[in-house]
Amino acid sequence: MIYSDKVMDHFNNPRNVGVIEDADGMGEVGNISCGDIMKITIKVDDKDQIEDAKFQTLGCGAAIATSSIVTELVKGKSIEDAVKLTKQDVADELGGLPSAKMHCSVLATDGLKVAVDDYLVSQGREPISGEIKSADPNFDPHADEDEDDHH
Ligand code: FES
Repeated sequence: MIYSDKVMDHFNNPRNVGVIEDADGMGEVGNISCGDIMKITIKVDDKDQIEDAKFQTLGCGAAIATSSIVTELVKGKSIEDAVKLTKQDVADELGGLPSAKMHCSVLATDGLKVAVDDYLVSQGREPISGEIKSADPNFDPHADEDEDDHH
């Protein structure tokens, strides 16, 4: 499996690792199939822009690299734009991901959505994120992989 230089860079030197102590929103998502877990905390300003984001990911290299790039991508973004990030956006930003690893970036985008909703709900506002794939107990992160193997 070949990873791009950018994936390897973010895996070896992940950015924004940790927890924001006085965070405005927190998202924790896990995957029962592969056991990988991602936690993200965000700081949001009074214009709904993400000021800071930090993550902790216990998972495969692609999960760590995608978590790292997501924390970089969302800084300065509005929460509305941040929750629109797709796993394809994340992969593109990393110079591509092997197809068998595309599903791993769902952890980071889902964690972010949960964190944004946590922020909104804590303010008594409506959540905006919609479907959280990794929260579905039937979501199989390796489904894509099996498909690819048969092609
Ligand atoms: S996120 Fe579970 S294998 Fe990558």
